[in-house]
Amino acid sequence: MKRIGILTAGGDTPALNATIHGAVVRANQLKLEIYGFIKGFNCLFNPRVPHVHLNPLFQEIPELDPTKGGTLIGSSRDYVDPSKKDELDLIASRLKHLGIDGLICIGGDGTLNGLQPLAERLPTVLAPKTIDNDLGLNFPSEPDEWVRAVDSSRSGFVYKRTPSSAVFDLDQIVNYATPGYATAVMVSAQGVERIRTTAESHRRIAIIEVMGRHSGYIALGTAYGQPDIILVPEHVVDIERVVDRVKYLYDLQKNVVIVCGEGIVDEEGNELAESRSTDPGGNVVFTGAADALRERLIHIIGDSYFQRYRRGSSATEAIFTRKVGHTQRGGRPIQFDRFYAASLGSKAVDLLVEGRNNAVSVLQYQSSKGFHVEGYDGNRFRDRWGLIHAREMHPLLYDPKLMKPSKLGIDYLLPIFTDAIGNDDTEYIRQTLFDPGNLVQPYHSINTDIHKRIRYIDAVD
Ligand code: F6P
Repeated sequence: MKRIGILTAGGDTPALNATIHGAVVRANQLKLEIYGFIKGFNCLFNPRVPHVHLNPLFQEIPELDPTKGGTLIGSSRDYVDPSKKDELDLIASRLKHLGIDGLICIGGDGTLNGLQPLAERLPTVLAPKTIDNDLGLNFPSEPDEWVRAVDSSRSGFVYKRTPSSAVFDLDQIVNYATPGYATAVMVSAQGVERIRTTAESHRRIAIIEVMGRHSGYIALGTAYGQPDIILVPEHVVDIERVVDRVKYLYDLQKNVVIVCGEGIVDEEGNELAESRSTDPGGNVVFTGAADALRERLIHIIGDSYFQRYRRGSSATEAIFTRKVGHTQRGGRPIQFDRFYAASLGSKAVDLLVEGRNNAVSVLQYQSSKGFHVEGYDGNRFRDRWGLIHAREMHPLLYDPKLMKPSKLGIDYLLPIFTDAIGNDDTEYIRQTLFDPGNLVQPYHSINTDIHKRIRYIDAVD
């Protein structure tokens, strides 16, 4: 193997550059050339294949900064459709023309879905990323627990989980945490802390929505910001219990902070989010869960409750929503993400070199030893029909009565977060945020620099 390619696919995370950096450092050690493909799979659908040589003379280009969020080679939601064989053949021939002997895709569950058809054409491996922490398995036999039935409302199938027959053990999790998750939780927990003091001052009830699609891992992690109630998509929202708890807390402390995952569901199992569109990869995009929950609370609690306490003239005034939004996905990755993202990128190079085609580099945890990286066969993530399902938070990590992490949930979070923030993370803020230079210099985008390095297939002999 002489030359490999790397791309970042799907929604960005703060740790993508760190993963690329890990891969480049390892490629330099092994004297492999490494090309970065611009804008994920979009690049491979483009006959000119815009790319950047990331390690000329086996030196990392200076633009690659593992402490910077986003991805210097860009990303897109374009994805590889396994059924489009001609498209896949074209991609393989373009990569061959470019002399690429192996490909690393940094991606999530959508990218993993397209990995096998690519791997049938050229050696391909995946390095995981996603703030949602939904690429992995809560236990190795999890894919076998999916069943499917014919969808009577439209053509195709619906996939459902059967009750689990596996004992849940933290040491058995496949890919304990994905790069980007820790930083997203930090941003969300800080958001909770900041909203708290304003809710306290104005005697208000805040509903904070966090990302994660159907997975409640980010919501679970916001427990570090000490919200009063956490609602996750894996457990139906018991609205009566929520209202009772809200009233109890409001009576006690005159403010309440609720966190909800964007994919939370009602007693009938319907998502509260009002708009539910899909991206090109078929992933659901939710909007409006917090607003829908607010409407329900306004309706049930009513104005008189707030007037009686003289804490506002209406429920509409007292209950407000905020989304943490894309700040969860951006900015500097914290130490945990940087370190393990780089390790996973480096492991992905090793997997390619060892000939472990169609494998995924994963972050494993053992209570006796801590974290380490490994390779895992990509097909072991697939159900019996070959489909990858996004990992949901294991239901046992959450206590539906307390509406907070369970004891096991706390045990899950501790290894990730106890030392997740490095001294340099806090020092970075001190040194850079109020740098007087920020006031006079315009923002200099990495895209401007990378643009100068882009090459095209037709310029390669
Ligand atoms: O998968 C990552 C994620 O941030 C989800 O948590 C969220 O639902 C979605 O992407 C948002 O997508 P977009 O970037 O298209 O707004």
